[in-house]
Amino acid sequence: MEHLINTIQNCDCIPFMNSLPKESIDLIISDPPYGQNFGKGHATYNRDDELVLPGYVEIDKKDYPAFSKRWIETASKALKKTGSIFIFSGFENLEFIMTAARESGLILRDQPIWKYSFGVRTDHKWVVSHYNVLHYCKNMNKVKFYGHSLYPKGKKSYADKIDVWEIDREAWKGYLKTPTRLPKAVIEKILHYSSVPGDIVLDPFMGAGQTAWVAKEMGRNYIGCEICKTYVDFINKRLETGQYNIKTL
Ligand SMILES: C[S@@+](CC[C@H](N)C(=O)[O-])C[C@H]1O[C@@H](n2cnc3c(N)ncnc32)[C@H](O)[C@@H]1O
Repeated sequence: MEHLINTIQNCDCIPFMNSLPKESIDLIISDPPYGQNFGKGHATYNRDDELVLPGYVEIDKKDYPAFSKRWIETASKALKKTGSIFIFSGFENLEFIMTAARESGLILRDQPIWKYSFGVRTDHKWVVSHYNVLHYCKNMNKVKFYGHSLYPKGKKSYADKIDVWEIDREAWKGYLKTPTRLPKAVIEKILHYSSVPGDIVLDPFMGAGQTAWVAKEMGRNYIGCEICKTYVDFINKRLETGQYNIKTL
């Protein structure tokens, strides 16, 4: 596995994770495609913005339960007994993720809510302004949680550990971007509390490469997978140049 450390593979994450040694990964951060039926014209989340890179691979809603089962099962096999897996999910497909995780033998440890500003406004529904951040482990007694990594024992760390994370989205205005990205601060929080420097962090759905970027900055090792070649080139350019935002590929 040594040759995979600090690399991003351009492939389907399911066979990739199946090929990893069992129980070799300390932490998995996963933000799978949403499984929304946008129709053909929206397959790349077109936002009339030439800076949004094309090629995002979506999963059809009808395939979402089976897809979730397959990737969560393989991710679970690769995870150490002491490890954590975080899964980001909107409310629409939450039931499929939770069923797949339970059937894969994972245990729900916490379920933080990531609350962001600028939800989609409508007059006939609640404004959706959060994601579920499902935190699973394999063993409640063995899973590692570094509760004092940001605040030494005795200092008040209560506020930072509340399970509602109010973190703004990042706009990346004027720079190349993928259609959807996790903010740096969300990944930092997970890395602080569920890993230490030198740990191996796997992200099967890398997108813009946020997990790799923050892992590198915080001294963690990353292993990444992304099915879209353009996104892999984008991530590698960000990492190689050391520029958080770039204007050309
Ligand atoms: C929600 S995005 C991830 C965004 C990422 N967390 C970030 O911060 O940039 C999901 C990504 O999964 C990719 N994807 C879809 N199916 C995949 C598969 N089977 N294997 C690997 N990547 C896949 C999509 O192309 C998309 O870039």
